[in-house]
Amino acid sequence: MVIIKQGAEAKLSLGEFCGKKCLIKERFVKHYRHPDLDTHLTKERMRAESKTAARCEAAGVNAPRILHMDLNERKIYMEYFEKSITAKAYINDIVAQLNEPAEQKQRINKLAGEIGTCIGKMHANNLIHGDLTTSNILLDPLATDDGTFRDYKLIMIDFGLSSFNQSSEVKGVDLYVLERALLSTHSDITYLFNTILDAYKEANTANVIEIINKFEEVRARGRKRTMVG
Ligand SMILES: Nc1ncnc2c1ncn2[C@@H]1O[C@H](COP(=O)(O)OP(=O)(O)OP(=O)(O)O)[C@@H](O)[C@H]1O
Ligand SMILES: [Mg+2]
Repeated sequence: MVIIKQGAEAKLSLGEFCGKKCLIKERFVKHYRHPDLDTHLTKERMRAESKTAARCEAAGVNAPRILHMDLNERKIYMEYFEKSITAKAYINDIVAQLNEPAEQKQRINKLAGEIGTCIGKMHANNLIHGDLTTSNILLDPLATDDGTFRDYKLIMIDFGLSSFNQSSEVKGVDLYVLERALLSTHSDITYLFNTILDAYKEANTANVIEIINKFEEVRARGRKRTMVG
């Protein structure tokens, strides 16, 4: 068995479903939790993962196709994007490989705009990701003829903490989680979040002022908490 990644929550390995290569995400048993609670939480996260992936597709947001789910074995079988890299790796590669700051900024802004559009579309359809980070966004190359990464399709993944919710506050929290993640993962790229937010506002016009107000409220509360300790 080829293990692709072993994270805090799950083990990802290559498998087969109906003769086709797929990815198997198996959630670990967390022994520090009561067994009943652990089973309950795991099932809830698996259901959320498969539901939201399907709803994203319906909303025009790319997500892995869920091929099969085995709740007892804690496994989800999904479409595997073999050549994809995470948005995190892509951004880090740009910074490491491109010497020209203007070119770096142009490429990163293009991606940031696409990320904002994608999250905007999700929120416009009341789909809350729950764990927005650049590790949970994949770039699947469209043209790989010369090995360069010129164009790609954006794919959202990792919906274990996702939900279906109309609330502007919940959407604001989703954005706040992303801002925090970007501040720790891409702290040097200060314009990243604002570019995402600009594209987000265009893609999700319903209640956008309220959502941004809620986001700012949540951020202010977060700051206060950090100061108080
Ligand atoms: N469908 C997929 N196709 C290709 N790669 C994938 C796919 N799903 C996940 N990955 C890769 O595996 C990594 C972990 O997947 P995922 O985020 O779903 O699991 P996780 O346990 O929540 O991990 P983490 O704790 O890092 O968020 C992703 O960051 C990505 O690199
Ligand atoms: Mg993840």
